[in-house]
Amino acid sequence: MRRNSVLRQDSVHLRLASRWVGGSRVRRMWMPQLPQPLRWDHNAHYHRWLLHQLPLAPRNVLDVGCGAGGLAAKLAVRTAHVDAVDVSAPMITRARTLYGPTGNIRWLVGDLLDPGLPLEHEGYDAVTAVSSLHHMPLQPALRRLAGLVRPGGVLAIIGFYRRASPTVLSRR
Ligand SMILES: C[S@@+](CC[C@H](N)C(=O)[O-])C[C@H]1O[C@@H](n2cnc3c(N)ncnc32)[C@H](O)[C@@H]1O
Repeated sequence: MRRNSVLRQDSVHLRLASRWVGGSRVRRMWMPQLPQPLRWDHNAHYHRWLLHQLPLAPRNVLDVGCGAGGLAAKLAVRTAHVDAVDVSAPMITRARTLYGPTGNIRWLVGDLLDPGLPLEHEGYDAVTAVSSLHHMPLQPALRRLAGLVRPGGVLAIIGFYRRASPTVLSRR
């Protein structure tokens, strides 16, 4: 990173950059932001496709690794209840700030693989995971996700799972 790096006003990135390169070398720069509905990143690119995968009139949806909550907010328009879970407390704080603490979204800080996470016992009509599965051990996470979907429901995953390289595989 260049000396006196310039970052947008995203507090999570600022905090990380300050830790990594030293706070005095990071300069805050205010940039005009698009209104929230118009913001785009390569994860948000899949939201429209994901929304088309939902069952008709889902009663509830779980978004796993919800990050700053963009997908959860879109899901909340299409269902009575959304549980949005993320292991990162700062991300959930960001989501609450952007989309509000109330309404039909329950923001949860926690690890998907934690059996104590207060998710719906009866499961969900749809479970979504955008770009979060590759942060977890694949097999237990997939089992957990599948177990959270009601019969006839939908599990929709956008994933970038890291596969073992040919070198690693050849050593097995
Ligand atoms: C690349 S971000 C994607 C965020 C969001 N889904 C999006 O599309 O912008 C991955 C998110 O998964 C969360 N995450 C990673 N491991 C998790 C776990 N075990 N349980 C819940 N969330 C997790 C991270 O904190 C992070 O916010």
